[in-house]
Amino acid sequence: MIYLRDYTDSKLSRVLIYSVLALLLVSGIQCRRAPANPTGLITEKAMVVSAREEASAIGAAILESGGNAFDAMVATELALAVAYPYAGNLGGGGFMVYRKSDGDVGALDYREKAPLSATEDMYLDSLGNVIPGMSTNGATAVGVPGTIAGVFEVHRKFGSIPMERILDPVIALAEKGVVVTEKQADRLERYRDQIIEISGEETLFYTKCQKGDTLKYQSLANTLKRIRENGRDEFYRGETARKLAAFIQEKGGFITEEDLASYEAVWRQPIIFNYKDLRIISMSPPSSGGVTINQIFKMIEPYDIGDYGHNSAEAIQLLTEAFRRAYADRNFYLGDPDFVEIPLDFLLQESYLRERMSDFTLDRATKSEAVSHGTVEILESAETTHYSIVDAMGNAVSVTTTLNGAYGSKLYCDELGFFLNNEMDDFSSKPGVPNMFGLIGANANSIAPEKRMLSSMTPTIVEKDGALWLVVGTPGGSTIITAVAQTILNAYEFNLSMQQSVEAPRFHHQWLPDYIIFEPDGFPERTKDLLRSKGYEINEERTPVIGKVDAIRVLPDGRLEGGADPRGDDKAIGY
Ligand code: DON
Repeated sequence: MIYLRDYTDSKLSRVLIYSVLALLLVSGIQCRRAPANPTGLITEKAMVVSAREEASAIGAAILESGGNAFDAMVATELALAVAYPYAGNLGGGGFMVYRKSDGDVGALDYREKAPLSATEDMYLDSLGNVIPGMSTNGATAVGVPGTIAGVFEVHRKFGSIPMERILDPVIALAEKGVVVTEKQADRLERYRDQIIEISGEETLFYTKCQKGDTLKYQSLANTLKRIRENGRDEFYRGETARKLAAFIQEKGGFITEEDLASYEAVWRQPIIFNYKDLRIISMSPPSSGGVTINQIFKMIEPYDIGDYGHNSAEAIQLLTEAFRRAYADRNFYLGDPDFVEIPLDFLLQESYLRERMSDFTLDRATKSEAVSHGTVEILESAETTHYSIVDAMGNAVSVTTTLNGAYGSKLYCDELGFFLNNEMDDFSSKPGVPNMFGLIGANANSIAPEKRMLSSMTPTIVEKDGALWLVVGTPGGSTIITAVAQTILNAYEFNLSMQQSVEAPRFHHQWLPDYIIFEPDGFPERTKDLLRSKGYEINEERTPVIGKVDAIRVLPDGRLEGGADPRGDDKAIGY
C-alpha cells in the first residue's frame, strides 16, 4: 500500500513535472511562434503598401472598385511613375512575384535589356580602361526599358478590368499634380545639379521646389493618354517609341526603334524553398535575390536563431556568416539565364550549403579572404522602389521596380515626361573593375546584345502552413536581399508585428568589404563591442538607412496588417 502510494505519488509527481515542463516548453515555443499583435494599419480585405500615399491610394481604389491584385499592380506601378520619379518609372524595369488565391505562383521579368548594338567592351576606352560615367550618367547608360511591357503583360494574363479604367486615375494624378513631401524636396535638391547637367536647363526639374509645392506632369499625362489609346505598342512601336529612340540617340545613347520593338517581358519560374514551416517564393535570375535568400535561409536553418534574441550579437553573427558565404557565390555564378548556364542545383543543394557553414563558430568571425568566390561589392542606397498588394480574393503581388540610380541616368525626356534608367551599370563593364556601387562582376554578368543585367531585387511572398502569410520587398541595391531576409525573420522567428518587423534596425554584410554595416543608432554599444571582440569590423558611416521595406502580413483571422517603412514617405492603404 505504502509502496503503491509512494509509487503513485512519485508517478503523479513525475507526470506533474513532465506536464509542467511540457507546458513551459509548448508555451515557450508558442510564445515565440505566437502571432504578434499587429501595430501597422489593419484592414479587413485588401491592401496596397507603396512608397507614396498617392500610389497606394490609386492601387487600393482599384481593388475596392472590383479590380484584382494584378489590376492594382498596373495602377500602382504607373502611379509611382507619376508620384515618385526618383525610382517609379516608365523608363526602367522590374520584377513581379505573384501568388494567386488558388496557390498558383509565378514571376514576371520586365528587367531592362542591353541594346542590340551592345558589346562586352562598350564602356572601355582604347586602352581597355572603363570610361568613367559612361555606364552611369546620361544616354549611354540607358538599357531598353521594360516597365510598359511588364504592366501590359500582367494585365493581359491576369487583369480583370479594362486598362482604361486603370489608367484614368493615373493620368488624372499626373494632370492634377503631386504635392512634394519634405523628403522628396530634399532628394530633388540633392540631385538637381546633376539632373540639369545631363538634361539641360529646359528640364522640368530646373525649377527648385519645396515641400508643399505641387508638381504637375502634363507630358507624362500625354504619353499615358497615347498608351491608353494605342496600348503597349505605343511605347515600343508607336509615336512614343520613335520619339524615345530619337531622343536617346540625339543625346549620344544607343537605343534604337528596333531595340524597343524587340523588347519582351518574360514569365519565369520563381525560386521556391522551405524554411522550417514556411514556403518562400522569390525572384529568380536575372535577379540574384531569390537564389541568395534561399542560400541564406538554408544556411541558418539548422540553428535556432529564434532562441538567440532579436538583433542579439549571436543572431547578427549567424546571419552575417550566412550573408558572407551567400554573397561570395552571388556575383561569380549569376547572370541572365537566357545567356549563361547557372548551376542552380549545385548552389541550392542543402548538403553544399551545410558544408559552407561547417567552419562557422560563435567564437569568432570568419574572414572573407578565407571564403572563395564572389567579388568586391560596395553598398547601394535606396533608389529603387517596392510595393506589396493583397486583394479581397487573396491574390498577392510583390513588385520591385527601378531606374537603378536616383532618377536613373538623370536623363529626363521632357517631351515624354519620364526619366531614363542607368541600368547598364548593373552589368560588369570589365571583369575586376567595380561599377558605380563597387560591384565587380564576373563573366556571367558581362554585357551582350539583348542580355539582361544581374539584379539584387527580391520581391518575395511567404506561405505559412500552406496559406498566404507575408508579401515583402525593398529597394537598397545589394542590401535588398539581407533586408528582406531580416524582415521575414523578424516576423517569424522574433515575433514582431509586420510594422515592427519593417521598422526594426537593420544590418548588412556582403562578403566584401569585410565589415558589418549597421544602421546608425539602431544597435546597443554592448552588442557591437561583443562583435568587435570576436573579430568583426563594424561600419556605421556607410549608409543612414538599409532598405525601405513595404510589406503585408495576413493575420490569423484573415485580416491584413501593413508594414510601411518610416524611413521614407511609404504608406499602407486598404479597406
Ligand atoms: O537591380 C538592382 O539590383 C539595382 N539596379 C537596384 C538598385 C537599387 O536598389 C538602388 N537603390 N536602392
